[in-house]
Amino acid sequence: MAAERLAVLRAAAPAISSQHGRRAARPSSAFLPAAPLPRAASLRAASSRLLPQSASAAAGSGRWVRCMAATAAATASDAAELKAAREDVRELLKTTFCHPILVRLGWHDAGTYDKNIKEWPQRGGANGSLRFEVELKHGANAGLVNALKLVQPIKDKYPNISYADLFQLASATAIEEAGGPKIPMTYGRVDVTGPEQCPPEGKLPGIKRFFNRKYCTGISFNPLKPMLANLQLSFPVVCSDAGPTEPADHLRKVFYRMGLDDKDIVVLSGAHTLGRSRPDRSGWGKPETKYTKNGPGAPGGQSWTAEWLKFDNSYFKEIKEKRDQDLLVLPTDAALFEDTAFKVYAEKYAEDQEAFFKDYAKSHAKLSNLGAKFSPPEGFTLDG
Ligand code: HEM
Repeated sequence: MAAERLAVLRAAAPAISSQHGRRAARPSSAFLPAAPLPRAASLRAASSRLLPQSASAAAGSGRWVRCMAATAAATASDAAELKAAREDVRELLKTTFCHPILVRLGWHDAGTYDKNIKEWPQRGGANGSLRFEVELKHGANAGLVNALKLVQPIKDKYPNISYADLFQLASATAIEEAGGPKIPMTYGRVDVTGPEQCPPEGKLPGIKRFFNRKYCTGISFNPLKPMLANLQLSFPVVCSDAGPTEPADHLRKVFYRMGLDDKDIVVLSGAHTLGRSRPDRSGWGKPETKYTKNGPGAPGGQSWTAEWLKFDNSYFKEIKEKRDQDLLVLPTDAALFEDTAFKVYAEKYAEDQEAFFKDYAKSHAKLSNLGAKFSPPEGFTLDG
């Protein structure tokens, strides 16, 4: 049984490697939204969209550009198509093990929301803007072009769903399929139509590199670390211009701007129970560990948990113990057990998986709705 599973994973690996390139692939100009097509061209493109196609084939052809352009003006979604798309997402997950990057895709589309801005789409949030090259090129989104390539064929197959809904559907489905809670999702998100509606860079959390002894503990991939350790620095050295002065303050600044609270911060950080960090994308994590060197999917990176495709509360247990050098603890992860208010929740979730799942489902749904404009205004659900 184990051998059979390994064979399946091996077979899937090449497909993923090409999609999850070791180096964050520079988004191709295909992601630039073209001007709206003339009606005839738009109809031709729409009919070609109905043909399922592989992401890599699409990426290498002119058809990709036409599809992106033709769907740029998509509005809210058709429920039947969304349900069918959910089945396709489930298949995609089974064959490519891309749960983590789909969760990150949904979070990064929604997490640009600013509650202080009333107008849509200036307020950012879950509006599908992350499909445009200008936003994919934001530093925090490194690697997410691979997630878009994975879901684009599904978008092509179901023209009457919005990107905004598809991103959030893919994320919630990935959580559920990884063993996590059922998320009470609402659909009907309207898409932005052009790259000029993308949010400015710098809305998502960044992590300043603290190369002092305290923060080096959990983060072992850093070529400058030995040199800096020798210098016996007693102050943090800032090697990245994006990031917190103190991780907890930074988390609050970013998440409070989204209208979220301390509990949301802690429970949503628990999504790091899935996935890996790659030094060639975010700059964080080891190039590979014993948990990631054989995949599944493209090997490498450093995970927060040993079973990084399983959604459970092991993230909280691991970042509390910090006992395994092969597991990642970012400064913002460590802050969950260092800040007094965060710690109350972090301790609870480390102890009680049921409480974690219950709160996670609520906060994830809240995150997925941030900034969204729904059509119909009240949105709709898929499962009654
Ligand atoms: C609290 C602030 C957060 C920070 C500072 C942060 C930072 C990061 C970093 C540095 C990575 C590695 C990216 C890479 O190298 O590919 C990452 C990955 C990831 N993040 Fe976060 N994150 C935060 C919150 C969240 C939230 C709220 C979610 C979802 C609800 C989330 C879900 C994920 C997932 C699933 C991955 C793994 C992606 C993969 O394996 O491809 N993160 N995060």
